[in-house]
Amino acid sequence: MAPRRLLALASLLALAVAATPPGSSWSAVPRKTVPYAELKDVAKRFSQGGVSHYLTLTLDEAETLLYVGAREAVFALATGTVELKAAISWEAPTEKKAECIQKGKNNQTDCFNYVRFLQSYNSSHLYACGTYAFQPKCTYIELSGFTLDQVAFEDGKGKCPYDPTKGHTGLIVDGELYSATFNNFLGTEPVILRNLGPHYSMKTEYLTSWLNEPHFVASAYVQESAASSTGDDDKVYFFFSERAVEYDCYAEQVVARVARVCKGDVGGARTLQKKWTTFLKARLVCSAPEQQLHFNRLQAVFTLPGTDWQDTTFFGVFQARWGDVDVSAICRYHILEVKKAFEGPYKEYREQAQKWGRYSDEVPSPRPGACITDWHRQNGFASSLELPDNTLNFAKKHPLMDESILPHRGRPLLLKKDANFTQLVVDRVSGLDGTIYEVLFIGTGDGWVHKALNLGSRVHLVEELQVFEPAQPVESLVLAGRKKLLFAGSRFQVAQLPLADCSRYQSCTDCVLARDPYCAWSRNVSLCVRTDGLNGSQLVQDVLSSDTRACTLPQVAKQGPITPKNVTVVAGTDLVLTCRLGSNLAQALWTFEGRALVAQQALVLQDARLRALVVPGAGAQHSGTYRCFSEEQGARLGGEVYRVAVLAGSGVPLETRAPLESLGLVWVVAVCLGALCLVLVLVVLSLWRRLREELGKGAKAIESTLVYPIELPKEPPSPRFVPSAASDSDEKLWDPASYYYSDGSLKIVPGHAACRNGGPPGATSPPTAIPGQPLHSPTRIHLGPLRGSSSNGYIRLALGAEERPPCADLAEELRRKLQQRQPLPDSNPEESSV
Ligand SMILES: *[C@@H]1O[C@H](CO)[C@@H](O)[C@H](O)[C@H]1NC(C)=O
Ligand SMILES: *[C@@H]1O[C@H](CO)[C@@H](O)[C@H](O)[C@H]1NC(C)=O
Ligand SMILES: *[C@@H]1O[C@H](CO)[C@@H](O)[C@H](O)[C@H]1NC(C)=O
Repeated sequence: MAPRRLLALASLLALAVAATPPGSSWSAVPRKTVPYAELKDVAKRFSQGGVSHYLTLTLDEAETLLYVGAREAVFALATGTVELKAAISWEAPTEKKAECIQKGKNNQTDCFNYVRFLQSYNSSHLYACGTYAFQPKCTYIELSGFTLDQVAFEDGKGKCPYDPTKGHTGLIVDGELYSATFNNFLGTEPVILRNLGPHYSMKTEYLTSWLNEPHFVASAYVQESAASSTGDDDKVYFFFSERAVEYDCYAEQVVARVARVCKGDVGGARTLQKKWTTFLKARLVCSAPEQQLHFNRLQAVFTLPGTDWQDTTFFGVFQARWGDVDVSAICRYHILEVKKAFEGPYKEYREQAQKWGRYSDEVPSPRPGACITDWHRQNGFASSLELPDNTLNFAKKHPLMDESILPHRGRPLLLKKDANFTQLVVDRVSGLDGTIYEVLFIGTGDGWVHKALNLGSRVHLVEELQVFEPAQPVESLVLAGRKKLLFAGSRFQVAQLPLADCSRYQSCTDCVLARDPYCAWSRNVSLCVRTDGLNGSQLVQDVLSSDTRACTLPQVAKQGPITPKNVTVVAGTDLVLTCRLGSNLAQALWTFEGRALVAQQALVLQDARLRALVVPGAGAQHSGTYRCFSEEQGARLGGEVYRVAVLAGSGVPLETRAPLESLGLVWVVAVCLGALCLVLVLVVLSLWRRLREELGKGAKAIESTLVYPIELPKEPPSPRFVPSAASDSDEKLWDPASYYYSDGSLKIVPGHAACRNGGPPGATSPPTAIPGQPLHSPTRIHLGPLRGSSSNGYIRLALGAEERPPCADLAEELRRKLQQRQPLPDSNPEESSV
């Protein structure tokens, strides 16, 4: 028994779920997870009683004020303090609401004035539009008094959606409003419109080949006339998803698009009168070929301007569903790629074949859809009004380009499963090495913001911040670059965050490994500090390779001594010790009585991060000091120390040794021990219950609290999990089936489920791939109330009786590892154990 038990120690069960190695393109893991409670000190929040839907955020030019468009209200907040400076109540009048309800709209959700557009119009006024109980209205807001111009109310048709849930985008360029929305009450007539300003209003043709049930997400103004050698025009780009017309066999298919119009377009004279003559659109592709994932649902686009317009970059946020798993992606597009598609061949509908294909005949001159340039002016076409009918007719029939626009490097910049990315902003920041880095702030559907560093070939997720709790989608994000602030809007709140909170990194190692280009370790003050304005040799930062060697020289990481935790368990208990890693990319190294536990035993799953140590059925020989170190890229980040005492089970030995005359004393001792045992059992039970509660909540905070021994009920294992080659009587010691909850769910301690077969990652048997269509996973995965990255979450896998166990690969791998362990030398268990 004893050697077997020792073997148990030798085989300390490293229950860790395979995590994606950092750098893999599949599902990046944020290095740090910052829960809501830890954001309290740095996040500032604004909300006003009775007001909801803080959806529209706009900064003034000086970044001193943040204008917030909400439901029936507009606010001006001071940036930095988010103090309320001024407020406007802009309610839809009662009779409008009554009309709205009469027309069958919901009085709880639809029949309010949702402010959906808020932008600077001129130096003294903002322009604002609201849904106004399904009768959109726009007006000016005078800034000095922050008052709504009640007289200048304009019809908001085409400028603002009727339906608050519908996608919409707009921007003001030189006093003209470009907007993309639905033009009618029913939401059937999509339009890209230009009005206000000196020209008559311009719009898209109402043809499905132009716009087909679009969902508009963003627009961008690019000044392509600047220093143009061809006398090119400025352009306005629109980003949306729509139902594709060109894939006739997949009638339901949605694709992502970019469309553009030229600023100087004034429409045709006869054909395309007051319609865009320069409307062209192309497909935006965002696919991960290895994962067979195609993203078509465009959620948001951020335009990052460069020093020249040629350096403009568009970042697209995409979502897809893969069976039951949500997957999000960021794709990065360069403007010259977009330009190339618009200058390439057109797509054409061939009546006879009833199919769309590349148009290969002669293209009329001047080229349809092109902006008016010097060449046009020299050839007698001074404006779009002078374009010939054949050019305009062609343009009307051929709005779609044949070539799609591929993302930079032909793949997503970032892929994340179990995530719904909703919004994105990008900042450029100069590292101490002089390199300009792109930092992405990505909002999610459950109220988190991911901070990601673009390293060119891959993305490093610096951290994930829980901005909104209870979980609410991040509906808008705005970045104040000079003030180094990020604003996020949700249904119930506006939150302000610093772009970096360097004090979160408590040691030099941590500070450097974070690769946060806003932060560096200051040797002078021994703190991780913001780099802005600072420089010099006293700062340690290495964004590119995160080399921590510079940390070890004069100042070692400031760390207090680790306080040991006393753990006392009754013999036979399955002991679970966890290691707080301080970083989701770190791994734990365990020692027992000063000797490494893992090194000699190839027990750790491939790519696994050992976070919890499981000693099944602990015995007296397992008493002692356990230590874990958190190690990341060879650098140590801290750890835990446990002093484990394993108590003999029932107090039987005492009885036998007790002399008869001191029987009274024995009884006292026995009663005391009994009481102690009872207390221990109660403690274990309550802790177990607490653990289960935490698991139920979604286990972000658990890492720091789960330091207890947990008694796991041993239930008859599911036949699938019984190793077929189970001949050793000790098999059940290693049987993963020991780690079930009473409800039949498997406890996996803790890690990241890389369900190779059950989930999208590198699906070995890819389902039939419809080009561009979201794929469906072959098995259904029940990951419980698991959030976001779940990189350090506890995953409960519900094992349905009929269904094939999810993450079968994981179970399989575990089983394999457990079997591999059997041939461990039995001869000298003392040696092999530690
Ligand atoms: C909305 O309508 C329902 C029933 O038609 C009514 O009970 C409720 O009070 C109304 N709510 C408001 C805010 O008017
Ligand atoms: C800004 O526009 C408003 C509305 O058209 C106008 O009343 C105001 O005079 C303009 N302000 C300036 C400084 O041009
Ligand atoms: C743990 O036990 C040691 C000695 O057994 C004791 O000195 C120490 O105070 C205990 N620590 C805690 C946190 O109870």
